[in-house]
Amino acid sequence: MDIAVLPLAPEQMKARVADESKLGFGRQFTDRMFLAEWSVDRGWHSARIKPYEPFVLDPAALVFHYSQEIFEGLKAYKWQDNRIALFRPEMNARRFNHSAARLCMPEVPEELFLDGIDRLVSLERDWIPTAPGTSLYIRPTMIAVEPVLGVKPSDHYYFYVIMSPVGAYYAAGFKPVSIMVEDRYVRAVPGGTGDAKTGGNYAASLKAGLEAKKKGYDQVLWLDGRERRYIEEVGAMNMFFAYGTHIVTAPLTGSILSGITRESVLRLALELGCTVEERMIDVEHLLQDMKSGAVTEAFGSGTAAVVTPVGRFCYKDECLTVGNGGVGTITQRLYDTLTGIQTGTIEDRFGW
Ligand code: COI
Repeated sequence: MDIAVLPLAPEQMKARVADESKLGFGRQFTDRMFLAEWSVDRGWHSARIKPYEPFVLDPAALVFHYSQEIFEGLKAYKWQDNRIALFRPEMNARRFNHSAARLCMPEVPEELFLDGIDRLVSLERDWIPTAPGTSLYIRPTMIAVEPVLGVKPSDHYYFYVIMSPVGAYYAAGFKPVSIMVEDRYVRAVPGGTGDAKTGGNYAASLKAGLEAKKKGYDQVLWLDGRERRYIEEVGAMNMFFAYGTHIVTAPLTGSILSGITRESVLRLALELGCTVEERMIDVEHLLQDMKSGAVTEAFGSGTAAVVTPVGRFCYKDECLTVGNGGVGTITQRLYDTLTGIQTGTIEDRFGW
């Protein structure tokens, strides 16, 4: 499909953040965005790159009432030789369409998804930060825009992409975070939308997140929705536990997100000489293993969070220090190798 490029007026160009170490996460957006529309009668049409600006939407648009919305997250990096690299974008295209199917939204042809992002990133290449730990975060999104109050799939959608130069997701940077295991609220249940990247999952997580923050924890770790017994994920991250060089993570049973960083970490860990296992992790057993010292490291993985060490692990108000509470050796090696591949300083033998 042709992608039109609309002009950008000088007054639509924004000032950049001068100090890249102060970028934070997702607070500033580039000058342009991508937008394509789908309607029942025309299918996908009107793909264009246009100045970044607010939408004018009918207050009755379905997205505002029944949350028919999905999104993705991926990153672009500028390499030392000035080439630009995206990390495994076809995986995001596939997961986006998996989410679309779950939310009864039209599939976005992979070519349109990838071309739209490629063209937008090329036009906005000057926005890609280069300081260590920074990148251009790309947020593809689809929303239901038909104005109607009946509960039904929309007959009109916007697929759009916005981009934000970012630093670390957690304000402290690459530092151990504290995790509280949530045993009252649940994020997802079998048969629910846990493995779709849809806004409602995140809205439903806010209450537990706020309560955890009030108690001084950084993030909530969700247990399975049926028994509240097995470790699932952290919303913005999949979770890993290292028993020496044996790495364990929860299996993809349908209620957790199939993380692209998760899959990459599993492959890298093997490459680094670790063994990996996807299995149900009983929180009580895990706690015992932490107390006995069998669990030596814990970390989360995600596009935004990259690889984030977990230093404190709290369950039912009992808090344990993981390992020595600092950044474990395997966590550090995984972070260094992954970010090295992403930024072009380490050879990519996986074709990512
Ligand atoms: C990502 O890692 O890209 C995510 O989508 C997590 C997000 C909620 C910040």
